[in-house]
Amino acid sequence: MANILLRGRETPDIHKLKVYGGYEALKKSLSMKPAEVIEEVKASGLRGRGGAGFPTGLKWSFIPQSEPVKYVVVNCDESETGTFKDREIMETNPHQLIEGALICAWAIQATAVYIYLRGEFWDVAHEVDKHIEEARKAGYVGDNIHGSGWSCNVYTHLGAGAYICGEESALLESLEGKLGQPRVRPPFPANKGGGLYGEPTVINNVETLANVPFIIKNGAGEFKKMGTEGSTGTKIFCVSGHVNKPGNYEIELGKATFRQLLYDYAGGIPGDRAPKAILPSGGSGPIIRVTDAVLDTPLTYEDLQKMGTILGSASIIVMDETVDITWVASKVTKFFKHESCGKCTPCREGTYWLDKVIDRIMAGEGNQSDVDLINNVAKNMQGVTLCALGDFAANPIIHTIKNFPEDFKQHLKAADNKPIAKAAPKAQAAPAGGD
Ligand SMILES: Cc1cc2nc3c(=O)[nH]c(=O)nc-3n(C[C@H](O)[C@H](O)[C@H](O)COP(=O)(O)O)c2cc1C
Ligand code: SF4
Repeated sequence: MANILLRGRETPDIHKLKVYGGYEALKKSLSMKPAEVIEEVKASGLRGRGGAGFPTGLKWSFIPQSEPVKYVVVNCDESETGTFKDREIMETNPHQLIEGALICAWAIQATAVYIYLRGEFWDVAHEVDKHIEEARKAGYVGDNIHGSGWSCNVYTHLGAGAYICGEESALLESLEGKLGQPRVRPPFPANKGGGLYGEPTVINNVETLANVPFIIKNGAGEFKKMGTEGSTGTKIFCVSGHVNKPGNYEIELGKATFRQLLYDYAGGIPGDRAPKAILPSGGSGPIIRVTDAVLDTPLTYEDLQKMGTILGSASIIVMDETVDITWVASKVTKFFKHESCGKCTPCREGTYWLDKVIDRIMAGEGNQSDVDLINNVAKNMQGVTLCALGDFAANPIIHTIKNFPEDFKQHLKAADNKPIAKAAPKAQAAPAGGD
């Protein structure tokens, strides 16, 4: 199957407008009513590729058309550990993203699109700016697009490189020039008062919007031919860790299993070692123990959910049999402690204490009650925080304890051999006449 999103693989110069073409899908959408465009995207079954898998057309339909000012924001924070797909789309196929974002803007009748990139992507932003100018000169961006009378500008904006600014409401704060911390919701971004500068806003991931030109050009029916009923289209899988050929692989959803992804696409495990664990959604989703049943699971949103984990942004981090999963949990915990924005107490304090106690366990100074304690702290962080980072931070602890108890145990055994809380000997009275 030819790539739809990673078209740069087959057509190297597709980043140039003359090779990409004349924004024909945008032209077609301009001949449709905005509501018809939303219906087409709804009918395609496209789900957001940024992590939560929310239906894209449905999200667009929440925008109140009666409001005069509306915005589209493209999430290119790409901050999830092990995710590197949006960067490839922007570097190799930027016009498809710009075109998809403009189709979204037409559908909700927005007059501005903001592409928010993490600070480290300054070089990517520089190139995207050039492509926006190329498209502007051709009449696809700016005033009177394709002679339709509708005008819409596209801007890039660089963040400062914080994980939390990938969370949509923190992203909006950052885009407004404020401290990047999540907002209390409702109102949600689609509502008046909840979006950019308080105006109704659609926020979509880069990969999500890059799918839209195909849907409009070929129709929802063609898109739905790919994938399964619950997971339509293709998905880019970012494979890293213990594989021979790490990289991005665009695969029809449900057409490959974990086994095929690891062995046929990513070239197998170095030294022919056995795979032990997979983080299917970077650091944020539940870690899974590799079994034959897991390897034979098709890669769809619904199959991974049934397995007790999530597909998320599909950043597949593979760990072989040599890896100590408690060490992985300690590293991921440190990451979330560092990235917690501190706005709400369970996440701010919880990540601090999880990190402190797991460090003690890693140092061989923990006991079973420490494991029980972090399990309890993590469970108490679930579902009570302002944004999902609190849940993400709980996952490595809860699911490592559940799925890899022996990895925790090996650290505790060492501790058992050297008593940890020895009471200091009581001071003895010096014998009479002694020194
Ligand atoms: C802590 C946190 C970090 C996130 N980071 C990203 C990110 O880097 N890129 C992204 O597209 N979505 C990220 N998301 C999801 C966004 O909040 C939002 O759901 C997404 O941009 C919506 O786009 P979609 O519907 O196209 O997936 C993050 C969410 C959370 C809670
Ligand atoms: S859950 Fe964590 S990252 Fe999210 S708002 Fe609360 S403190 Fe900030």
